[in-house]
Order: sequence, then structure tokens, then C-alpha cells
Amino acid sequence: PVPARVADLLGRMSVDDKIGQMVQGERASATPADAAGHRLGSVLSGGGSWPAPNTAESWADMYDAYQREAMDSPLGIPLIYGVDAVHGHNNVHGATIFPHNIGLGAANDAELTEDIARATAEEVAGTGIDWNFAPCLCVARDDRWGRTYESFGELPEDATRNAGVIDGLQGDALNGPASVMATAKHFIGDGGTTGGDDQGDTEVSEAELRRVHLPPFQEAIDRNVGSVMISYSSWNGEKLHGHEYLIDELLKQELGFSGIVISDYNAIDQIDGEEGFTAEEVRQSVNAGIDMFMVPEDYAKFIELLRAEVDAGRVSEARLDDANTRILTKKFELGLFERPLADRSYLQTVGSAEHRELARDAVRKSQVLLKNDGALPLAKDGGKIFVAGKNANDIGNQSGGWTITWQGESGPTTTGTTVLDGIREVAGESTEVAYDREAEGIDDSYGAAVVVVGETPYAEHEGDRPDDLRLDEEDLATLEKVRATGVPTVAVLVSGRPMDITEEVSGVDALLASWLPGSEGAGVADVLFGDHNPSGKLTFSWARDFEQQPINVGDGKDPLYGYGHGLSYPAS
Ligand code: IFM
Repeated sequence: PVPARVADLLGRMSVDDKIGQMVQGERASATPADAAGHRLGSVLSGGGSWPAPNTAESWADMYDAYQREAMDSPLGIPLIYGVDAVHGHNNVHGATIFPHNIGLGAANDAELTEDIARATAEEVAGTGIDWNFAPCLCVARDDRWGRTYESFGELPEDATRNAGVIDGLQGDALNGPASVMATAKHFIGDGGTTGGDDQGDTEVSEAELRRVHLPPFQEAIDRNVGSVMISYSSWNGEKLHGHEYLIDELLKQELGFSGIVISDYNAIDQIDGEEGFTAEEVRQSVNAGIDMFMVPEDYAKFIELLRAEVDAGRVSEARLDDANTRILTKKFELGLFERPLADRSYLQTVGSAEHRELARDAVRKSQVLLKNDGALPLAKDGGKIFVAGKNANDIGNQSGGWTITWQGESGPTTTGTTVLDGIREVAGESTEVAYDREAEGIDDSYGAAVVVVGETPYAEHEGDRPDDLRLDEEDLATLEKVRATGVPTVAVLVSGRPMDITEEVSGVDALLASWLPGSEGAGVADVLFGDHNPSGKLTFSWARDFEQQPINVGDGKDPLYGYGHGLSYPAS
């Protein structure tokens, strides 16, 4: 049944009002006046789109400016504003950056994941934002995929087990002061494309699609997730954004999803494979069941084309009513009509000491000790430790993609501690800690060396690695330089996925998979020095060599480290 307030509002809306509600523009192209003038239902900040200066306060000011214009428009329907806060409120300078999902999968602590989502919701809500395009519930089946780090693991259970992120974001009720609407993404099979090709083709039977990729979405719907984002990918050659069977029949009718189905960014353009979108693509995607369209720049064109389709009778007003009912119901549930402006009492939670402590705890719990010949834990005995590697002192690298910018920013734009800072803090004053990125100056007088290597930030297709998953030349050279001294060597791998490191493993005395820990690198040091006994377990099968890709539990292959592997220190 349509809630009475929604029915009343719908009854007063024109076709143009209804079409506008279904459209989401990007803040850089849709000013508050543009958004109100085009009756847009929503605005987003795409990766790296922020108000200047990029402070939490100016986010709240920007948000309020949009809502004031919207409330002043004839129908006074508030906007709903969306961001990708996928590991904390990662768009804002000074926010707490939590480990990416791959690390939380390894931590295997559903309560922790939910607590992180709650903290994220507070930071997001403090800046006014109502809608988060998270969690990514992808089941990543191929490490070559550039979004592997957004996955909790290679099995559906890994995502399902962590779906409490939805409860953490949405709180007990959507109209709570620090509740943010969650998005289960990307429906469906985004992590199963052939070759790990981002936005590629998931070539599996329906039974396999349902067995591997559907359970996390069922779980999300059971938890009342407010929205579902459609995947850019195809299923057996057919783009999901035009897939009526999967969106309307499976998601809406069979699973009973009653929230908002949102498109991905400019994704309807891809239905016919040509640049830009056509009337045909608009019609197909609306009729397939998408309710809101992320058309960042071309929202005016979308509105015009959809209006023509409605006038021609190729899109029914009943379909517009269904989409609007879903959108307006969520706006009412969020309490936007009663409280359209940012609740600034939560602004002070952005990057708070409490949230950073939670993040540090998550970092500790997400570390997976892959190998240890006794070099770990490091002693705090007043000895000498040498730290090296390109990821030892770079908070951007350790945070990965979706940090400040879409592709992630390398450099100290995020506040927190690097792994090196953490080692200096935890080692204690009597221990000498030397650092050089390329290990210049190391000699055999050191008691231990920590070399932090791995990947640098990337997101989406930019992170696809169809050719190899090897360490780069700099990492290999630094590791070799340190190894040649004979100093016991600990390698810390900062990466968004398992890498091809079989050869290097034999040359080091210990190996720690750190994943993408985020702003609190000190949590890595807590594990290195034994203040926290490593407890993380792999939620990915770690390939012995690149030719094994894709490798997953049950496929009969012999991995270097199996799903579930993770060592601890012996009890002392
Ligand atoms: O939410 C994201 C999605 O995961 C990938 N494309 C862009 C969207 C909005 O930023």
C-alpha cells in the first residue's frame, strides 16, 4: 500500500515533477538553482567532487544550500544527496578512513563491521548527507578485477556475514539523527565477470548467478536496505541496466525489494555500447525497473527524452508512479520533510578520536599473518629497526582508492598515522627506528627490517590487471637490498588483493597482508610488535602464480595460501 503522505503528494505532481524526481545530477554540473529548476530528485558528489575548502563544515553548508532551494520550489520536495562513503566518509579531509572491505572480511567480526558503519553514518550525517552508495556486496571471483578490495571475500557468505553494515548505516530507523540510507551494490554478478574485467560480462548459468551472487542481496533486502544499485556489467552478453528480468522480475517481484533502484554513473549509456544515451536506452532502462538515474551532467537531456517516451505512451505513468512512490517513501522515512537541513551536532564526530580508535582496532583485526619464521613479533628492547618501502610512509597509498579522490590520493591529504608513524609510536623510545624509502643506509647492524610494499591507489577499471599481479620494480629492488644485508626481514604487503609474490616469499622471514588499512597505520604496528596477536584469516584463495587466476574455494586448484589461512604468534 502507498503511504498516505506519498499518495497525497503524488496526486499533486505533474508528469514533469515525477520525471524530475527520478533524476540525479552531479554537484559540479547541477548547482542548487539548477537542481531546483529541473525539479531533480537527487544530487550526488561523484568521486573527488567536493565543496571548497574540503572541510566537514563546508559540506554541511553545501548540503543546506541545495535543500533550501528545493524547499523553496513549488512542491517543496527535499533532495536526497548521495556519496560514496565506502570506508568512512572518505570524501572529506580529516575524516576517519577505515580499512576497505577486503580487510574487514579478513577480520571476520560482524559486530566490528557494523560499528564501523555506525561511525561512518555519524560522520556522513554530520555533513548533512542522507544517502551512501555502500556497501559493495560484490563477490569477487577473480583477483585481476580492479574492485576486488571492495569485496568482503570470494564466497557469498563473506558478504552476507558483513551485511550488518546496512544496520550500522541505517540505524534503528531511517529518520534517526545519524541514520544514512544504505545501497546494496552492484546488482548482480559484478564480481564474476570473465577475466575480472570491470564492467565486463558475467558468463554464468542462472543457477550459478543465484548461488554465488544473489545471497548477499537477499540478505540486504531482509535487512531493509533502502536502495540497490545496478551493475555496469552484463549477464551473458546483456547489459544489466536494461535487464527487465533481473531488475523487475527478480529483484522487485521475486525478492520483494520495495526501495529505490538506482543506476550507476552514466551507466545507461552502455546498454547499446555507443557513447552517450538515446531515447531507446532511456525507455529500456526505465521499463526494466530502474527508479532513479545517475545522469551526472546530461540530466536535462534525460528529462526531455523520458518526457517524450511518456507522451508517446512507450513509458507508462504507472511506471513513473512506481518509481516516485519508492523515492518519496524513502524521503519521508528519512524525515527529510521535517528536518531538511544538516544536523550539525554530529559534525564533531568527523575524524574524532573515538572513531580513529575504532579504525585502529579494525586495522589490527584485519591483518593476516601469512608467514612467520620467527621474525615477528618485533622486540621493543631498545634495538635498531630499519623501515623501508614505498608504502611505509604514505597515508594515501595505505588508504587506496575512494579516498578523497575517486582514484585515491597518494600523499598526506588524509590525516592519521602511516605505518612508519605507528612503528615509531609503538616501538617505544629506547628503540632506534631508521627509515629510508629505498633502504639507503641499511647495514647488518639492524636487528630487524620492515619493508612495506604493494600497490598504489586505483578504483574501478583503472585497477584491472589483466597481465600480471607482480610487485613493481621499486618494491623488488628494495626487498632485495634489505634481504642482501642478512637482517631478518618482515614484508608488509599493502594491497587491494592477493598479489603474485611466491618468489619473494622465500626471501623474507615474515609476511603480513595489511590490505588497505586506511588512516590508522598504527594498527599495523600494534600487530608487528605483538600488542595484538594477529587474528585475521584470508577470505580469498591466494594464487601460487598468475596462471591460476581465477582461483576460488572448491575449484581443485592448489593455492599458495588457502581460504581461511592466517597465523598467530605462539602463546608466550
Ligand atoms: O557508487 C559508485 C559506483 O560504485 C561506481 N560508479 C560510480 C558510483 C557513484 O560514484
